[in-house]
Amino acid sequence: MNIMIVGFGTVGQSLAQLLLGYRDFLKKAYGMVVRVVAIVDSKGAAVSQRGLDLDMALRCKREHGTVAKMPSVGSEMSALDVLRSVEADVLVEATHTNLMNGEPGMTNIVNALQLGLNVVTVNKGPLALAMPMLKEMAEHRKLALKFSGSVGGGLPVLAFAKECAMGDRIVKVEGVLNGTTNYILTRMEEGLGFDEALAEAQEKGYAERDPTLDISGMDTACKLVILANEVLGKRVTLKDLKIEGIAEIKPEDIKMAKSSGKVIRLIGVAEESGVFVKPLAVDRSDPLAVKYAYNAVTLTLENSGRHTITGKGAGGRETATAIIRDLISIKERLIGYKIV
Ligand code: HSE
Repeated sequence: MNIMIVGFGTVGQSLAQLLLGYRDFLKKAYGMVVRVVAIVDSKGAAVSQRGLDLDMALRCKREHGTVAKMPSVGSEMSALDVLRSVEADVLVEATHTNLMNGEPGMTNIVNALQLGLNVVTVNKGPLALAMPMLKEMAEHRKLALKFSGSVGGGLPVLAFAKECAMGDRIVKVEGVLNGTTNYILTRMEEGLGFDEALAEAQEKGYAERDPTLDISGMDTACKLVILANEVLGKRVTLKDLKIEGIAEIKPEDIKMAKSSGKVIRLIGVAEESGVFVKPLAVDRSDPLAVKYAYNAVTLTLENSGRHTITGKGAGGRETATAIIRDLISIKERLIGYKIV
């Protein structure tokens, strides 16, 4: 399988590391040989139809800040130039989330689909702003549009929902979907101030490039849009949601919740009557009361009740595993049968 990676930040680089470390495993377990034919970052690109040397790409990025400096394969080509010139099966879109207009991810995804490439995206911006349109575009062209790493990092939330929904109906989705705010709230419970807790979350690499996306609830809202469309079949985008973040949460609120056996969590809720993001006091024993950078998603089903999946919801390595999962499922689609 030939792939092209656009966006070579934490997640893109983690993907390259996983592909290097798991080369033999992927071949043995799934018969999958992943050749990275192009990497594009904000300063240029590296292209080789025979497959790039990923060790060298990682080293070059570390030392020069761009893969464009790779000897003989590096250039100043744009993502579109590269899309037009390489033969690839899949675009992996891992540029940063921009909620103003979804760029550059939106254009990358649209161009890739128009040129006949399957798409794996961990970029939430294009999905939050235009998920129904992008899904239709992919379906119309009989291409895959996969995004399992856009919700829950490495946690297979979407696959879990699909499994739960076999023979039953999901009526409500509730989730702690943002690692940064959950980390801040947990550290505040332990007595830390908001700013210190945020600084720690940034140091650990959980926060968005612009952390107001986390704090304001926008990141949670993006993931909730994805869940509402995918799990509940709603046709919603960001503009349909009511969104409240954690900027107004004071240490006193946290203490008061604690005195009645509760914790405050930033929860995204999607159900028939609406889709919203809000800090809520939940029982300390509730499965949604996860700590630190953990995420939790609870699905309520008509017959089988509440089911929760929890795990670490942020981090480069974790999110890169979700990309590998999506690549395996695209491989299954390309060969026409299930490997796992
Ligand atoms: N900033 C996000 C979070 C990263 O804290 O959950 C993962 O999407």
